[in-house]
Amino acid sequence: MKTIIIYSTKYGCAGELAYLIQKELKGECKIVNVMKSSVPPLNDYDTVILGGSLYIGRIQKQLKKYVNEHLDTLLTKKVGLFLSAGDPKAAENEVVRKNVFPKALIEHAVAFDVLGYAYKFDKMGFLDRFIVKRVAGLSENVTEYYENRIKAFAEALTR
Ligand SMILES: Cc1cc2nc3c(=O)[nH]c(=O)nc-3n(C[C@H](O)[C@H](O)[C@H](O)COP(=O)(O)O)c2cc1C
Repeated sequence: MKTIIIYSTKYGCAGELAYLIQKELKGECKIVNVMKSSVPPLNDYDTVILGGSLYIGRIQKQLKKYVNEHLDTLLTKKVGLFLSAGDPKAAENEVVRKNVFPKALIEHAVAFDVLGYAYKFDKMGFLDRFIVKRVAGLSENVTEYYENRIKAFAEALTR
């Protein structure tokens, strides 16, 4: 099995989740930050994992653009979708689902879940800090990776 994980992130958590997924997978697995590097052609890969982080119900536009431009090819691969998001149930939320990935891709995916979150106050700008304080009532760094979900996610992709 040859896998590629394509992710987008604002403060790094989605990238950390990509590396945790990679650790759980067997076989070769390349990781690409779609915001920084170009994604190689998908011909070489039979499994494609796509993940972004959620801000006001949306993921980064670079990942959305990549997915929209490669949807036909993605629908021929084994696909897993993940989110880095404060709401652990975000992947079940109908409005979020509509905004993040095309319906056809979500239906095609073997797994779609929130795998963890982080609030990195030391990296956040003023506005993000203000919003998180107001909405989540937090003011210190927090990181949580959902180990069981990451394992189940990787298992669904290797099955
Ligand atoms: C301004 C702001 C808006 C956010 N909006 C949402 C949201 O709509 N839903 C959600 O589940 N989490 C939301 N979050 C939490 C982020 O998704 C979470 O911090 C995520 O782990 C960040 O991942 P990243 O480090 O990969 O960017 C928000 C965080 C910030 C700072």
